[in-house]
Amino acid sequence: MTKILLTGITGQVGQELQETLTSVGEVIGVNRQQLDLTQPEQIHNAIAEIKPDIIINAAAYTAVDKAEKESELAMAINANAPKAMAEAANKISATLVHISTDYVFDGTNHTPYTEDEVTNPLGVYGKSKLLGETGIRQICDRHIILRTAWVYGSRGHGNFVKTMLRLGSQREELRVVADQIGSPTWAYDIAVAITQLVSGQLEKGDAAIPMGTYNYTNSGLASWYDFAIAIFTEAQKLGFPLKIQQVLPITTADYPTPAQRPSYSVLSKVKFTKTLGINPPYWRDSLIEMLTQWRTLTSN
Ligand SMILES: NC(=O)c1ccc[n+]([C@@H]2O[C@H](COP(=O)([O-])OP(=O)(O)OC[C@H]3O[C@@H](n4cnc5c(N)ncnc54)[C@H](OP(=O)(O)O)[C@@H]3O)[C@@H](O)[C@H]2O)c1
Repeated sequence: MTKILLTGITGQVGQELQETLTSVGEVIGVNRQQLDLTQPEQIHNAIAEIKPDIIINAAAYTAVDKAEKESELAMAINANAPKAMAEAANKISATLVHISTDYVFDGTNHTPYTEDEVTNPLGVYGKSKLLGETGIRQICDRHIILRTAWVYGSRGHGNFVKTMLRLGSQREELRVVADQIGSPTWAYDIAVAITQLVSGQLEKGDAAIPMGTYNYTNSGLASWYDFAIAIFTEAQKLGFPLKIQQVLPITTADYPTPAQRPSYSVLSKVKFTKTLGINPPYWRDSLIEMLTQWRTLTSN
């Protein structure tokens, strides 16, 4: 049976992976207490001891603004830990699956970013994630890097959807940035996509599902403002308690944050779709699915 070591099991994507991956093999999930990614020797020891066939790294330092002040910690988790995983994976000929981000790009494009486009991260988080990617590419041939974006889920840590629902239940008016464009993506869909890549790899081999970098987000695009409007419209239909009356579009300049973000970070999914023959679900359909799940979880 295929042995899979999964990190980040308390995170949004990690929690979903812990379930979706059971169709592929035996999942050995580890949390921060069991494997601290700031400790490279722990990574080496765990991988040498467990000897997984596949390592899936769903753990990361994901606090984009905080990273500007905690660059050492962000670098340790997002840049050094993936490198240690790649070295350890190489020693036992395991495959390393790693998740990365749209924030490796600077957002000056006006068309979706393909996998091989020039990167230029604007902040510490993006820089640390890019170093993680390049480290893996240099060290371990048997890798899949899945770049994703604007992640939200009903399980795990906080996210934009949960923040909007909370603020929308407290306030009548909200201002949301309308000049940053991306693709909101449901954590569950990312877990399914990773599971499809991994199982496809095992069944059909490298020729059908080549190793390398893949973009994956939900289909379509939106601004944070569009996303907020969709959240409130769909949440209202599902009976969430909301006070919100008005959402006003503002610019990035109106809402300064410690980290600069790309103004356009839509990722092209052509490679994923061609390789797997699967189109990612449309973002608004996935949002409805997530809200339906979240409504059930929170109304009990
Ligand atoms: N969130 C987004 O919008 C977004 C966008 C693009 C790409 N991504 C990428 O997608 C992947 C999954 O993101 P996510 O949203 O699921 O992340 P998340 O919900 O923030 O979860 C991060 C996970 O990493 C773990 N972790 C953090 N520091 C650790 C350490 N020192 N040792 C061990 N584990 C540690 C966390 O454990 P604790 O619970 O103990 O903190 C948690 O399980 C990441 O690679 C991220 O960079 C995310």
